[in-house]
Amino acid sequence: MSAFFIAGAGTDVGKTHVTAGLIRALIASGRDVEALKPLVSGFDPEDWAGSDPGRLLAALGRPLDLPHLDRISPWRFRAPLSPDMAAAREGAEIDLEGILALCAREAAASGDRVLMIEGVGGVMSPLSPATTNLDWIRALQLPVLLVVGSYLGSISHTLTAVEVILATGLPLAAVAVSESLDAGTPFDETLASLGRLSGAPVFAVPRDASETVWAAPIIEALLS
Ligand SMILES: Nc1ncnc2c1ncn2[C@@H]1O[C@H](COP(=O)(O)OP(=O)(O)O)[C@@H](O)[C@H]1O
Ligand SMILES: [Mg+2]
Repeated sequence: MSAFFIAGAGTDVGKTHVTAGLIRALIASGRDVEALKPLVSGFDPEDWAGSDPGRLLAALGRPLDLPHLDRISPWRFRAPLSPDMAAAREGAEIDLEGILALCAREAAASGDRVLMIEGVGGVMSPLSPATTNLDWIRALQLPVLLVVGSYLGSISHTLTAVEVILATGLPLAAVAVSESLDAGTPFDETLASLGRLSGAPVFAVPRDASETVWAAPIIEALLS
């Protein structure tokens, strides 16, 4: 079993886009793949095909029904807010112990499987009044794939996220730069800056490109 935590330098940067592409590429190469998006906010139970779990189930080639949804995303909240705020609107709190137990159970499964666990929002998005996504990452002790954008400002957001992840002592397996819509920044120069300054392996995920173009080197970095 190889398991990875997919963290973001922020929300809407491309975590699910990159994870879904990696899942499709891994399956195409004959690998057994599992994915979790344990905690999701902004979830509409009446219309969820385009949600994170909907996109991950589609990439896994599984039906978009309640049993499959419950399996990969048991904790779902309606409000499009940080998880702590979204949960509070439903009189709930985020069950970090439960999330960790699910992740650990799946990561402990035997066999040659690759497990991708997508976190929420950015590296330090709040989960509860006292915890952030970083506490989840630290507790899981899995290598991290950091997904970032290429918008103006992303270099600083990315380098900050890299520092915070490295401070946990966990391996940063790769940084995937998902080209932001209408970024207005030169993608190649942004990649070069991030490569120089982050000290991490940096990979390009060009806008609207098929994963057949970009996934292989990321998979190699993850599984090597
Ligand atoms: N490289 C890319 N090419 C095309 N669309 C992208 C790319 N990166 C992100 N997107 C799109 O941008 C939106 C936000 O990305 P998403 O993967 O949902 O972000 P996150 O999971 O980090 O919140 C989605 O509609 C996604 O399909
Ligand atoms: Mg997502």
